[in-house]
Amino acid sequence: MARTALVTGGSRGIGAAISKALKAEGYTVAATYAGNDEAAAAFTAETGIQTYKWDVADYDASKAGIEKVEAELGPIDVVVANAGITRDAPFHKMTPDQWKQVIDTNLTGVFNTVHPVWPGMRERGFGRIVVISSINGQKGQFGQVNYAATKAGDLGIVKSLAQEGAAKGITANAVCPGYIATEMVMAVPEKVRDMIIGNIPAGRLGEPEEIARCVTFLASDDASFINGSTISANGAQFFV
Ligand code: CAA
Repeated sequence: MARTALVTGGSRGIGAAISKALKAEGYTVAATYAGNDEAAAAFTAETGIQTYKWDVADYDASKAGIEKVEAELGPIDVVVANAGITRDAPFHKMTPDQWKQVIDTNLTGVFNTVHPVWPGMRERGFGRIVVISSINGQKGQFGQVNYAATKAGDLGIVKSLAQEGAAKGITANAVCPGYIATEMVMAVPEKVRDMIIGNIPAGRLGEPEEIARCVTFLASDDASFINGSTISANGAQFFV
């Protein structure tokens, strides 16, 4: 029977590419989104992938949403915690609200997404957790104290989950994308973006599909002994 995969933030940007790639590999995919009904409807019309609306920052909503997905599509075997936001500002201008929004969505959102599926994965003796972190969690970034903190935190989450899940057939790994051609990066002021691209040895932004291929690999049986790892895909911009 086809495995079921849940992709948070799965109807746009990198998440949409991941949802499509998993579907192409034969998974039954559920893609979540937070607010953009129009984009989600267009995504479902284009791909046939079912979308579900909830806020990953809300534990109760996540738990209820996951129960609905499992009732409709079956137990979730693969979780891709991809949903994330930016609220960039230099630290001296960053507000407590900008800090909190990013922590709640990007970091607590991973807890809220993985925690409800974890007991079922343990019982069934199989699970794949892939968390989409970022190059900026590895190196930090001017204007992203909040975002970098969450993306570095994601790496702590997967390294810990890997140790807890290994004996139960569950792997937890991270992908650290560099700068990828998505709306999130396009929202960076053009002057700053040009400067960033100038610092990427590949001389270009990455494509969402280049991240999706990392995810399908980590979700596959081929990656069964890879646990607690990070795949960096950044065009040689940064090495750990
Ligand atoms: N390094 C050093 N100095 C920088 C800088 C940088 N990267 N970016 C800005 N500055 C400097 C500016 O030159 C300016 O200096 P002066 O005052 O001396 O001229 C000062 O910081 C303030 O700059 P701004 O006037 O632009 O300040 P602002 O408040 O309007 O905006 C900012 C600052 C929000 C950080 C803006 O520069 C920005 O958006 N930077 C991009 C941050 C970034 O890389 N975000 C990544 C988004 S994509 C993503 O997150 C996906 C992923 O995982 C990779």
